[in-house]
Amino acid sequence: EKKLSIAIDGPAAAGKSTVAKIVAEKLSYIYIDTGAMYRALTYKAIVNHLNLENEDPLLDTLLATEIELLPSENGQFVYLDHRDVTNEIRSSIVTNSVSIVSKHQKVREEMVRRQQAFATEGGVVMDGRDIGTHVLPSAEVKVFLLASVEERAVRRHTENLQKGFPSDLEKLKEEIARRDKIDSEREVAPLKKADDAIEIDTTSLTIPDVVEKIMDLIHERI
Ligand code: C5P
Repeated sequence: EKKLSIAIDGPAAAGKSTVAKIVAEKLSYIYIDTGAMYRALTYKAIVNHLNLENEDPLLDTLLATEIELLPSENGQFVYLDHRDVTNEIRSSIVTNSVSIVSKHQKVREEMVRRQQAFATEGGVVMDGRDIGTHVLPSAEVKVFLLASVEERAVRRHTENLQKGFPSDLEKLKEEIARRDKIDSEREVAPLKKADDAIEIDTTSLTIPDVVEKIMDLIHERI
């Protein structure tokens, strides 16, 4: 059976990682969360008091940084220079700063180089913003997941409450909309559906519905 490359892109909190993980598991493929890589660099930059608008120090930091994505029960562990930062990179300070770090061209070039190295053998499900357009332009299956801001904020809010985290729905809406705006309007590799990607609006779909649609697309290609 042919080992495909599968690209899953879309705006913040559209459910990309949730469905990408399930699809990867079903196929015994590697799952790669590229957002986690930008988050890990952002976390390190904040800890080191870097100015996030300044490209060169960020690039130097990245070049001296090891970011590892290791499979875990429910997704992946993220290691930054051999330290587990899986939870730290989901903090709101990282979430609300990461789009600044990911604007920089040289930072993106190095991230893309690392991401492509993970995918040389195929058999990957990769999620992010520019996978179908830049990282894996020849991926056999490209999906663009969409949902309304309202729906995405409600999902994130419910998830936070379930985990016992404090959560403010209106603030989530604003943060998601702001992150989408920066990610879509940046000059380098903005968030954009690839011409050959299949758009799936998940607003009124369940997770198994979305997984099924993607598995159908995959089976057409295998
Ligand atoms: O996917 P996640 O929400 O964790 O991504 C965090 C941020 O990383 C995004 O808002 C975006 O700024 C950046 N990102 C990116 N390109 C990717 C993946 C993520 O610019 N391929």
